[in-house]
Amino acid sequence: MSLVTSPSANLPVNDLALEASLRAVLADLVHRCPSLTKAEKRELPSDLPKVRASFLADIRRQIRLGGDPLGEAYARIFSPEERRSTGTTFTPAKIISQMFDLAARLVRDPGLVVDCGAGSGRFTIAALRHYRKAHVLACEINPLLALIIRATARVAGLDSRMKVVLGDFRALKLPRRSTPTLFIGNPPYVRHHDIEPHWKRWYQDELARHHITGSQLAGLHLHFFLKARQLGQPGDAGCFITSAEWLDVNYGKDLRKLLLNGLGGHTVHLFPAAHQLFADALTTSAITTFQVGQTHHGMGFTESNGQPRRLTHWVPTQELQEARAWSSFARPLRQTATEATATLGDYFLIHRGQVTGANHLWIANEATPPLPASCLFPAVTHAKEIIRLGGGPLCDPTNLQRVIDLPADLGALPARDRRVVEAFIAWAETHGGTASYIAQHRRPWWRVKLKAPPSIIMTYMGRRPPVFARNLADARLLNIAHGLYPRTPIDDPTLDALVGWLNEHVLLSSGRAYAGGLIKFEPGEAMRIPIPPLEHFVHVA
Ligand SMILES: C[S@@+](CC[C@H](N)C(=O)[O-])C[C@H]1O[C@@H](n2cnc3c(N)ncnc32)[C@H](O)[C@@H]1O
Repeated sequence: MSLVTSPSANLPVNDLALEASLRAVLADLVHRCPSLTKAEKRELPSDLPKVRASFLADIRRQIRLGGDPLGEAYARIFSPEERRSTGTTFTPAKIISQMFDLAARLVRDPGLVVDCGAGSGRFTIAALRHYRKAHVLACEINPLLALIIRATARVAGLDSRMKVVLGDFRALKLPRRSTPTLFIGNPPYVRHHDIEPHWKRWYQDELARHHITGSQLAGLHLHFFLKARQLGQPGDAGCFITSAEWLDVNYGKDLRKLLLNGLGGHTVHLFPAAHQLFADALTTSAITTFQVGQTHHGMGFTESNGQPRRLTHWVPTQELQEARAWSSFARPLRQTATEATATLGDYFLIHRGQVTGANHLWIANEATPPLPASCLFPAVTHAKEIIRLGGGPLCDPTNLQRVIDLPADLGALPARDRRVVEAFIAWAETHGGTASYIAQHRRPWWRVKLKAPPSIIMTYMGRRPPVFARNLADARLLNIAHGLYPRTPIDDPTLDALVGWLNEHVLLSSGRAYAGGLIKFEPGEAMRIPIPPLEHFVHVA
């Protein structure tokens, strides 16, 4: 039982069982904080009880060790029913760290992180720790929680890069930014019955700007996605965990359309209700990631029982547009799993990407003399370019490096190009271009001879199973990856479904182990990878 029974009791606070104890601790921890709003000051009346110094020291110690004692106290003091009207529930640390991992695939060094509906500041504190240079804006509507965020960040020594905005996220304004912004958080689940009419109008008007007819039935979490779209600039990214009902219900199509139209939907990681992520909310959850303004030609889906899977089942945009519900995309192969009685080699020839003999000469860089565009080919030059796709297709060649591939017969070039290419060859020779074994064994020595763009690309070496991706960018390959070439034409849906299956099922055990746990798939081994007959994928797709 608490030592404090009311704010006027004259005993020092020694636990966080009562609201008055929490307020008293907060008053001490935010003492003389210059940026408190009037609403926050009102949360801290002058007649609060004193707090025992040793107890305060213990709270500080817990915060410095990474705990959230103030948020936990808040969740104990206010029952789930009391928190329902503002959709307040706090996200476990494990999920938060998984979400930052997912966000890292979308944006490397955000200049600003916005914690949307910040609660006790768990995402805010994690962001301040995770990104050492970023500024973090915690937007929270509840002044008592805003105080908890300030107190926690202050004790953790992280408050200099943090700003708390007390107010409605939908009213938030951001200045134009020159670095990417990450929108992250657990937007509140508040049903439409509890949303004021003027915000419903805002939702519909704002969606109309994207040519979407918004529903009056949308919950507050959908408003948050829309607000991220409104605030987002191209290059910004987002990662939200929400209830997953929007994937299938009628009003959810507002968000489904938004993700395909400007919000840049990237992946959906579904957590079935059986795997409860939240102590006080019985719900199916989904983590959704997006890259504002990007066109991905589709989205990746997974279903997970513990943590988001690394690789997703990729679904093309057209299929998503036509579908009435999306959650089934997260479990496409469950009922249709079939025996892997065929092999990749039955359908594909597999070749290693090309060896250049001297990447510093044949991958164009600042030192490369000018060359005609016809000699420069976008190519995958690092395995991480495939791994980063997370199972999705390679669509955009613009970020790839250019590999130089010259014709064997320079006489075939227009006269002007020929002079430029000859100057390049002379330069390459003076920089050791003829020295490598590879150059000495190819004719002529300057011809890298890239292979045709493969349909599917795969990594083949590492401590993890190979990663497969469709090559919609017609990229060429260096020898850091293998290319899969269909023996006879295979249609797009089948290729998509096959890539999803391979990313889900190919095990390290089918490869060859090297020293240090490295597993390698030579092209021959890759062709022996067992797969279900392709008719199976026609059915699944
Ligand atoms: C699901 S909780 C998440 C809290 C915290 N981000 C976490 O994950 O631990 C949602 C939070 O959003 C806040 N909230 C509700 N409506 C809001 C609004 N319109 N604008 C800003 N914050 C809001 C609630 O007070 C609550 O703290």
